[in-house]
Amino acid sequence: MKGIINYFSTTGNTKRMVEYFTHQTESVEFSLMDMKKLIMPDFANYDVIGFAFPVEFFGLPRFVLNWIRYIPKQTTIRNAFLLLSFSNIPGTALIQARNELKSKLLKVIAGHALHMPDNYPISRMKGFTANQAPNQAEKSRFHLFIRIFNELMHSIQEGHEILEATFRLSMVNYFMNIPDPVAAKRSMGFKYLDRQKCTKCAICEEVCPSKAIHLTPYPEFNEVQCLGCWGCYHHCPTQAIYTNKIRNKGHYLAEHLPTLFDKLLLHKENP
Ligand SMILES: Cc1cc2nc3c(=O)[nH]c(=O)nc-3n(C[C@H](O)[C@H](O)[C@H](O)COP(=O)(O)O)c2cc1C
Ligand code: SF4
Ligand code: SF4
Repeated sequence: MKGIINYFSTTGNTKRMVEYFTHQTESVEFSLMDMKKLIMPDFANYDVIGFAFPVEFFGLPRFVLNWIRYIPKQTTIRNAFLLLSFSNIPGTALIQARNELKSKLLKVIAGHALHMPDNYPISRMKGFTANQAPNQAEKSRFHLFIRIFNELMHSIQEGHEILEATFRLSMVNYFMNIPDPVAAKRSMGFKYLDRQKCTKCAICEEVCPSKAIHLTPYPEFNEVQCLGCWGCYHHCPTQAIYTNKIRNKGHYLAEHLPTLFDKLLLHKENP
């Protein structure tokens, strides 16, 4: 079987989750597509289509929502699945994504949200880093999900139709459902640059998903286009970017936390 996973990852948690997942799914040969490349694959070429992204303000990051809304309506119903990473409360992101994809005739047959370290600088600054996530129980639940996913793939291969997934969420997730598309942007505030620290390396320009940064020769921020993802803030190697809310604190990149992947990495034959 052929599959594709369209992923969005600001600081690497979701990407690691995806890499681990593809490593553990034998019956599907997966291609990975970084949504930031703004390329829309032809889903007709795949048996199963994945969407992977972090939770933002208890829902979908605005970039991901826009990307999904740009997907052309499929000519026939296709099987899809969701891989979400979150650090605190996932809210109703799984349900929101399932419903958005349904309108494109992409039927979500499975989905999982995995607890990962927090990349929201304001939380990290206050000490809520979740650096130890996922814990043993969370890892086990992820492995159970992968096992069920593999069984679903075998059922599809045998010609069975799979029903749309239902997600049972704890009550707190419904209370935290705040469908506010500009919440992330507002929470970040305005960005500023410390020119003494900036080396004009252009990393911030490269990582920005919404092309809101241009070097002239120092970075300039287009606050209208900015989505408040904090990507530039986290990736700047000299911490030259700051906002009116936070400076020199709360940075995070998954690659700086080497234990994260080791924690997920168990023997393939014993998930
Ligand atoms: C702007 C912003 C908002 C966030 N909102 C939530 C949230 O509502 N609930 C949650 O559990 N985690 C939230 N997070 C944390 C991320 O979902 C989590 O750290 C995720 O694993 C990051 O994945 P990535 O490294 O692939 O970008 C938020 C992070 C950011 C930057
Ligand atoms: S990533 Fe940092 S150092 Fe590099 S150009 Fe951007 S602000 Fe300057
Ligand atoms: S300017 Fe920075 S915070 Fe805004 S969208 Fe680009 S990378 Fe994200």
